Amino acid sequence: MSSFVLTDARVATMAGAGYGLIERACIVVEGGGIAHVGPDLPSGCAGLPQRDLQGRLVTPGLIDCHTHLVFGGNRAGEFEARLNGASYAEIARAGGGIVSTMRATRALGVDDLVAQALPRLDALIAEGVTTVEVKSGYGLSRDSELDMLRAARALGQARKVTVRTTYLGAHAVPPEYAGRADAYLDEVCLPTLEAAHAEGLVDAVDGFCEGIAFSPDQIARVFDRAQALGLAVKLHAEQLSHLGGAALAARYGALSADHLEYATDADARAMAQAGTVAVLLPGAFYTLRERQAPPVAAFRGHGVAMALATDCNPGSSPMTSLLLTMNMGCTLFGLTPAEALAGVTANAARALGLRDRGVIAPGLRADLVLIDWPEGESPAVRRTWVAGRAAYCAEGAG
Ligand code: NIG
Ligand code: FE
Repeated sequence: MSSFVLTDARVATMAGAGYGLIERACIVVEGGGIAHVGPDLPSGCAGLPQRDLQGRLVTPGLIDCHTHLVFGGNRAGEFEARLNGASYAEIARAGGGIVSTMRATRALGVDDLVAQALPRLDALIAEGVTTVEVKSGYGLSRDSELDMLRAARALGQARKVTVRTTYLGAHAVPPEYAGRADAYLDEVCLPTLEAAHAEGLVDAVDGFCEGIAFSPDQIARVFDRAQALGLAVKLHAEQLSHLGGAALAARYGALSADHLEYATDADARAMAQAGTVAVLLPGAFYTLRERQAPPVAAFRGHGVAMALATDCNPGSSPMTSLLLTMNMGCTLFGLTPAEALAGVTANAARALGLRDRGVIAPGLRADLVLIDWPEGESPAVRRTWVAGRAAYCAEGAG
């Protein structure tokens, strides 16, 4: 059913400030897009199949705009090591962290990478996710980085959601290049970016700008190559220290700068001017037991759009719940519930450079979530539609 009408919907359009709420609304879906949303049913639509939602809530499809969903192995042992006092950076320097996941990921082929990622993707889908970004960055060799991106593309084929791929070759320096980060960039990271792009595997390019990863100058080299290929950039920036990554991202007109615990007021101003979205990742903040929260007041003050994402990965954020992420955005970072919902809809779409979704408005894709929220009970995601097609249906959903 690609053309239909939802009637008596309580619609959080997310257009403008707040929820953009419309009560008792009709949503007309035609050809995969939203043809109309408002209190009246336009004449001419009366013949379309109708579903009476009896006041149930509809939001835009949820967007998880920062994940490392494809990986091998797990790092539960590192969680225990951190509880016993080791820091994330110390574990990384000792050959654990990202490099430990690299070893487990290199051991898997595309089919196994897909098989292991599917339950994680399904968990996101069951909470209303209709678009998910997936990064490479645990291969750190040409073949394994390409396999990760192929696996991400295959996930998009296996399920009815949009998967956007991000090349994260500049995530860590692999052991065979220890102490030779620039050689790794020249010999592996940059040529693999070209190869992945030629294979149509790359929607955007990311890096990890940190003392345990790459310097701003090194990230600039990756961004230069991305821009030469016409690819948008984004950056893991100011997560554990202030290195200048957020300002660098703004200089390159990045779609987003992500983490940002150590970002400053000046960074927020630069990001606002560049239109760079601040992607906040409370799961990593929580898991690493960080103390310094990102400067949300500065982002608000300068008008930086804020998104929220799971950062799903086996080390710093082993979680697959975007709803819990929204909750943590409020409890840990002080976002309002309306900011949290905007963070996984309108602003998450911007963080991915997607202008056709994230808001319920005429002309945009019909990516929708139906939420059951009976008086006095907990809300539950019942259905999703992706481009007007049923994508997820909870057991027993009406
Ligand atoms: O977003 N900060 C760098 N990258 C990931 C963590 C990767 C890992 O620890 O495996 C992140 O937190
Ligand atoms: Fe990340």
